[in-house]
Amino acid sequence: MRIGLGQIEPQIGEMDKNLRNIRSILDQARENDVEILVLPELANSGYAFDSKSEAFESAERVDDGEFSHMLKDWSKNGRLIVSGLCERDDERIYNSAVVFAEGSHILTYRKVHLFNKEKLWFAPGTTEPPTFEHNDACFGVMVCWDWAFPEMARILALKGAQVILHPSNLVLPYCFDAMKIRSLENHLFTATCNRTGTERNLQFSGKSQFTSPKGEVLLSLGEGEPELGVLNINPSDADEKKLTPRNDVLADRKPEIYSRLTRSS
Ligand code: ACM
Repeated sequence: MRIGLGQIEPQIGEMDKNLRNIRSILDQARENDVEILVLPELANSGYAFDSKSEAFESAERVDDGEFSHMLKDWSKNGRLIVSGLCERDDERIYNSAVVFAEGSHILTYRKVHLFNKEKLWFAPGTTEPPTFEHNDACFGVMVCWDWAFPEMARILALKGAQVILHPSNLVLPYCFDAMKIRSLENHLFTATCNRTGTERNLQFSGKSQFTSPKGEVLLSLGEGEPELGVLNINPSDADEKKLTPRNDVLADRKPEIYSRLTRSS
């Protein structure tokens, strides 16, 4: 299965330019026979908003905006795409990930764990992270800062995800190491698609990354440039959950000892 990471550099208030750059990475991905493409968090809008009204202006409804139509169109002919979307739904806006396959909207996941000023503009999602099946493989979705909550990746693993698709806009340096551990502790692949560039003094770190079920880095993109990374993987490599003949990362859990995890304090 051929998966691509489309590391791009959106800019606030430059919607036309953003869409042109996205179209260019979509074309590259098509030319490279990518079957599944991941784009960064908030790929249509940019990230470093100054106000809720600015974020609102950049938002679009799922399946009813130019960006969503572009993603939907790309997903025809057997392809699948997951992308961050500045999503509007009535008076609320969400930091969402949307999935399109075969020209149809498959799902929307609204980011649960909002980072820093995102809490000023976005409403948090209220559902567990989703999985879906595609071409006999199972994928999970989470968005950027969700990485800091190991429960999210664990829930996806328990729901059968073999590959976590992870649109991101990273500004702190820790996620790349953390995702190696999320892979290892759940024995699955992760595909973190980050963005590059600077917005209003916020520097994004690029280095979009694939990790393997053994916690190895399979691919790491450059720091500063928009770029497409492509990797062939076999998702069923994530099905073996034993690290030794007697240590299974899922079957050996002791949920009866973890009840504190479901209490709020
Ligand atoms: C982040 O969640 N964009 C750091």
